[in-house]
Amino acid sequence: MKDILQAKFMSEMCDTAANMYRLGWDERNGGNISYMLDGGEVAKYLDLERVVRTIPVMGVNKEDVDLSPLEGKIFLVTGTGKYFKNVKSDPETNLGIVRIGSGGEQVELLWGFKDGGRPTSEFPAHMMSHIARLGVDPENRVVMHSHPTYTLAMNFVHSLDEKSFTHSLWEMCTECIVVFPEGVGVLPWMLCGTSEIGRATAEKMKSFRLVVWAMHGIYGAGKTLDETFGLIETVEKAAQIYMLTAHLPRKNTIKDEDMLKLLQLFKVENYRKDFLDVK
Ligand code: 13P
Ligand code: ZN
Repeated sequence: MKDILQAKFMSEMCDTAANMYRLGWDERNGGNISYMLDGGEVAKYLDLERVVRTIPVMGVNKEDVDLSPLEGKIFLVTGTGKYFKNVKSDPETNLGIVRIGSGGEQVELLWGFKDGGRPTSEFPAHMMSHIARLGVDPENRVVMHSHPTYTLAMNFVHSLDEKSFTHSLWEMCTECIVVFPEGVGVLPWMLCGTSEIGRATAEKMKSFRLVVWAMHGIYGAGKTLDETFGLIETVEKAAQIYMLTAHLPRKNTIKDEDMLKLLQLFKVENYRKDFLDVK
């Protein structure tokens, strides 16, 4: 068996968590990541027959959440209450590799959570989001939640209407509309860690890769850790520019006509046409 700490998926996960912390998106235990791994790849590092312990999926009763579509799938996931700051220096305590058990009601721990830890409290929201995204894009592998500062600040001063929120972000950086042409879904403030917010997030994930949880943070989904990180990073940059300028008289803007030119140049067809005011 190879050393799992040398696996590419492990170093990618550690580097991503470290970057999220460095950027101030994940204070204390704020934020969580789940990364679906290839079973064959994991088998190079772990004996898949050896289950360290079984952990019930928090807050899940069958009528609320059905994770059975993910049965047998393996995820590298951050632990509940664990600090992003510490992931890179101690992955075996702060991360776990879990396999979704039969019926989707518990997970089998294959590695990690060394101090008796368990997956993030947002595990149901993550898994429901994986199911929703896989329905749209079979190559989706990552769901990421964090608390980026300016995105959150913007929630307090901007309308939470999806069209209006997305449009303001698109206006802030030339390439925003190319990076997230489908826009950003927005949920009102809801209690986190519940199956309700998980279901609402997953519903939005059918049409968005980015979902703002008002006054809490953001969810992103993508094929890779880099792609998902880049989506949140781009929203956060746009939100930062918004917050740096919102109180000042606006002299210039990127017009909808200009955004259309960008979409044409980058050959983007699947954008939210109803989020623009020109055809
Ligand atoms: P966990 O520590 O359970 O991952 O929760 C952090 C968080 O951001 C909740 O929304
Ligand atoms: Zn959170």
